[in-house]
Amino acid sequence: MPRVFQALDIDKEEKELKRDYLDRHMPHVICADEVNRGERFVVKVRIGDEYPHPDEYDHSISLIQLWNRETLLAEARYTPGVYGNLPAHFEIDFHIVAPDVSMNLSAMSVCSKHGLWQSEDKPVKVV
Ligand SMILES: [Fe+2]
Repeated sequence: MPRVFQALDIDKEEKELKRDYLDRHMPHVICADEVNRGERFVVKVRIGDEYPHPDEYDHSISLIQLWNRETLLAEARYTPGVYGNLPAHFEIDFHIVAPDVSMNLSAMSVCSKHGLWQSEDKPVKVV
């Protein structure tokens, strides 16, 4: 079973070096707090808040997934070098349609060197 790094771990860490490491891997789910049933809306997933992640042949973000509770909604795979081999905030916009009930979105990302990372939950109310 792989270890899953979670957003909560960042706040507990006081060493700057460790904060850098945690921040540059952490996915963030960015979207409206409330959407209309049946409406198409955009969910952005962005990796890192302050610190960009490397985009090197042997070290890059290889996968970003969007989940609604236990259901995988969508995923995107990246080839190393897609951001010009420069550190970047990997990000993608997923366009999804709001279901009949409210959602609890989260994102997972995979770093080819540092494993599996999970965002904080993002509740979305469907009205
Ligand atoms: Fe990494």
